[in-house]
Parts: sequence; C-alpha cells; structure tokens
Amino acid sequence: MAPAYDPTSPFKGVKDLVDHNVLSLPSAYIKPFEKRHNPQEVFEGIDLPCVDLQSKTAMEDIKFACEEWGFFELVNHGVPEDVIEDMVKNTHTFFNLSTTEKMKYFSEDVFNPMRFCTSLTPSKESYLDWHDHLQHWFKCDNLDNHLYPNIPTIFREVTKNYVKHMQILGKKLLMVMSKALGLHENKLQETYSNEEMIVQLNYYPPCPDPEPALGLNPHSDSGGITILWQDQVGGLQIQKEGKWYNVKCNSNALIVNVGDQVQIMTNGIFKSVIHRAIVNRNLYRMSMAFFFNPCAQATIAPIQELLDNQNPAQYKARLSKETSIISISKGKM
Ligand code: OGA
Ligand code: NI
Repeated sequence: MAPAYDPTSPFKGVKDLVDHNVLSLPSAYIKPFEKRHNPQEVFEGIDLPCVDLQSKTAMEDIKFACEEWGFFELVNHGVPEDVIEDMVKNTHTFFNLSTTEKMKYFSEDVFNPMRFCTSLTPSKESYLDWHDHLQHWFKCDNLDNHLYPNIPTIFREVTKNYVKHMQILGKKLLMVMSKALGLHENKLQETYSNEEMIVQLNYYPPCPDPEPALGLNPHSDSGGITILWQDQVGGLQIQKEGKWYNVKCNSNALIVNVGDQVQIMTNGIFKSVIHRAIVNRNLYRMSMAFFFNPCAQATIAPIQELLDNQNPAQYKARLSKETSIISISKGKM
C-alpha cells in the first residue's frame, strides 16, 4: 500500500502529488497575481528562426538569431536520433521510479553534482514551480567519475553518450558564434577556459489548476549557451518585446538559447532572453536542458576585440561563478 501523502512536505516533488491524486492545487504552487501568466492573454505560437547547422548560411543565420531573438531552432545538429531517444527513455525511467527511490538523490544544493529536486530550492522559495528535475553537473572530462543514479546500469552509459555528443555540439556552436562575431573561431571557447556542463532533466506532470501555477518561473539562463530538447506537448514560452509567445516544437530540432554570460562576453550583441514554462491540465511534459557554461574560474567580461570608442564595455569583468547567480535580464547586473 502506498504511504499516506504528507501534505506538510512539498519537497517530494509534484509527481508525488499527482500520484497521490491531489485534486486541487496546493497553496504553495499558487503564484501571486503579478507572477502568474495572464489567462486573458492569448499566446500566439511563434516560429523561432531555424538554423540548419549543415547549411552554407548557418553562420549568418546564427548571428541573426542570437542578435534578434536570443533563441533558435537547430536542425542537422549532428546528435544522433537514437542517442536522444535513449536519453528520453532514461528520463522517463528516472521520473517513474518510486518517490522513495528518487528521494535518495534529493538535495537543495544547486552545486551538488547529481541531485533530484523539485522547483529550485523549495525550502527557500515562497512559491514553488510545478516541476521536478534531475540535475547532473559535469566538470570538464569527468564523465567517468561522475555520480549517476544507481538504477538500471544502462543509465550511466546513455547519459555519458548524450553528454559526449552535446559537448561536441556545444563546442561547434561556440565556434560558429565566434566566427559570426568576426572573431577567431576559438575565441568564445578560450574565454570559457574549459567548459562545465549541466544536464537538467525536467518533468512537468499534469497540473490540477494550471492557471495560477507555473512550471518554471520567468528567468534568463545564467550560463553560456543552453541546448534544449523538449517533447511535443509544448509549454515553453519566450518574451519578445514585452509579449509572451509559445515556442512551437519541431520533433527533430533542438532549441538553442544564449545565456547571460555569452551576452556579457559579446557586450550585449547576443541576447539572453527571458523565458518560462507553463503547465497544462492533462498531459505531462518533459524537457532536457543542457547548459554549456564557462568554468567557474573563467573571467567573464566583454571580449576586447568587440570594444572600441563607439562600443564601450557594457558590463564589468567578474568570475564566472559570481555571474552564475545574477541575472542580467532581470536587471541585476
Ligand atoms: C531551463 C528551461 C525550459 C523548458 O531549464 O532553464 O528554461 O521548457 N527549461 O523546460
Ligand atoms: Ni531556462
């Protein structure tokens, strides 16, 4: 028999609530009015710029997308379909484990190399987001030493393979972005001084009352670049000129977005854009975010070659680990 649900503990995750047939939205998930998405608002679908990484125009297309949108859809990205599919299966397997099993990995320390959590740091938040996640934090090249959930042994191999391919893609994107800025192709990668990678598997169960809830609060990604896989359910929204738009999904595409640190390095030429995730009443949704970030000791500052009298530095230099908790897009730089 399933243990009785303990309503005083919201920390076991939202899937646990749904599994216990919680039919009304617990108050911790009811956002104050100013944080909610406006139910009167009609969200139009938006077609992100689509970049074919194999095409001759990939560089100009990425430049346009990063300058104007901060987001783009990426096809012909080189990550094999079966590598993604296996990772998706992995993600299902993990979130369908019992709560007791998942809670073995529970941690509120965002720097924990492998943690299961709900919302972000639930004990410190006034209002919780309607999602659970598993976060893997990889420092460069330690894929073998890394901790993995101790469940089907295949999990480790599949995740390693996924990270390996995403790392190649991340490096390739930095190269194309550097060239698009008129810089040496290694410039952004050098500024990274080695990358840190975070795989964040997000699980958004059906929500009994989606309107006052949010899957993910509005935020910009604090790191370098993010490469997102999402299923076909939809829920990701981006803000453009003050309006929210649904990001349509294309099943074989990945979504790439610029993070705050690349906005700083490019002195604001490439934009880190605010986005969020809404939830729905009937379907669960999954996404897999891959954060390709500079190492904690890297100095994040506008790249000298991009500066001149007409283009003075917009941001001051700071360590990567210091910028990672500050969001430019929320006006805190
Ligand atoms: C994120 C993110 C979007 C999504 O994890 O930072 O923005 O649709 N995810 O899950
Ligand atoms: Ni994000």
